Amino acid sequence: MHIRLSDPIVGRIAVTDGISEEALLMLRDAGHEIELKHFETSELNEGILSNFDAVVVRSATMMTGDVIRASVSEEGGIKFIGRAGVGVDNIDVEVATELGVVVCNTPGSSTRSVVELTIGHLIASTRNIPRADRTLRNGEWAKATLKGTEIGGKRLGLIGFGKIARGVANIASSMGMEIHAYDPYVDADIIDSAVYTMHNDIDEIFRICTHISIHCNLSDETRHLVNSRRLSLMGGIGADGTECGNHLVSCARGGIIDETAAFDALHSGQLSSLALDVFETEPVDDCPLLHHENFHGTPHIAASTIEAQSRISREITVQLLEFFEGERPSSALN
Ligand code: MLT
Repeated sequence: MHIRLSDPIVGRIAVTDGISEEALLMLRDAGHEIELKHFETSELNEGILSNFDAVVVRSATMMTGDVIRASVSEEGGIKFIGRAGVGVDNIDVEVATELGVVVCNTPGSSTRSVVELTIGHLIASTRNIPRADRTLRNGEWAKATLKGTEIGGKRLGLIGFGKIARGVANIASSMGMEIHAYDPYVDADIIDSAVYTMHNDIDEIFRICTHISIHCNLSDETRHLVNSRRLSLMGGIGADGTECGNHLVSCARGGIIDETAAFDALHSGQLSSLALDVFETEPVDDCPLLHHENFHGTPHIAASTIEAQSRISREITVQLLEFFEGERPSSALN
């Protein structure tokens, strides 16, 4: 079903997790009224958003089915949910569709930033950068013990092969990595098989790759896709014969990696490193991974660059303006 607004209107827009100044200006110039405020879950459940025509969220606002139902009233309420970012796992798109609420995201705006952070985490892991920094600050000169491995000459497995994974693949292959990918939703025929090897069996990726990066969405199908059985398949010997250990990175979504299984694999040495930008529970509270020296992480900042945030804000603003003009926004998901 395609949802469309019939008449152009000037709207009241709630922006719950921030947006750029430039985007605010564009919306205000078009006559829209903006409220910049992060609402508590209780306020959302009580229907505070029914006082608005549209809401723009990032990942910190959970637009559950109940919240969306409470945001739509007889008199009006929200007609548009804009996700300033890619993942819509915090939005119940099915309920939004049932209630005639358009959901849009900004699918391409953060690709480069996420690619760069993924490569950064990969190299930080294999060259012990976080540990080296910690020892340096502790007054230790650990030059003799912090021996890393090169990523060149190793096999990189990509779980999910969308735009971000392909960006990672391009950089990693230019650094000498052999690229293997698994994505049941990508047509293998469109992939340049001279550069990348596509696999139909996800276990095969774990069997042959020493470095794995996650790039799929979180869904019932992908929750705990990376589990202890799969981690135990990793061999730890690079394509070049180096005993490089096994390395796992994710800047995708928390919950795809079973964190308990990953912690056990770090503890047993089956995983030599784990780098995460995303966690099963965010913000992270008392996560055992934080106490393991071969783990390092970042607080979900893959898209947090000046460039990505500016592109995201502009893109979601354009979608909002299109919607209020009565057009179907170009990245509408329903
Ligand atoms: C996204 O889905 O766009 C990213 O995870 C960034 C974010 O949620 O802030």
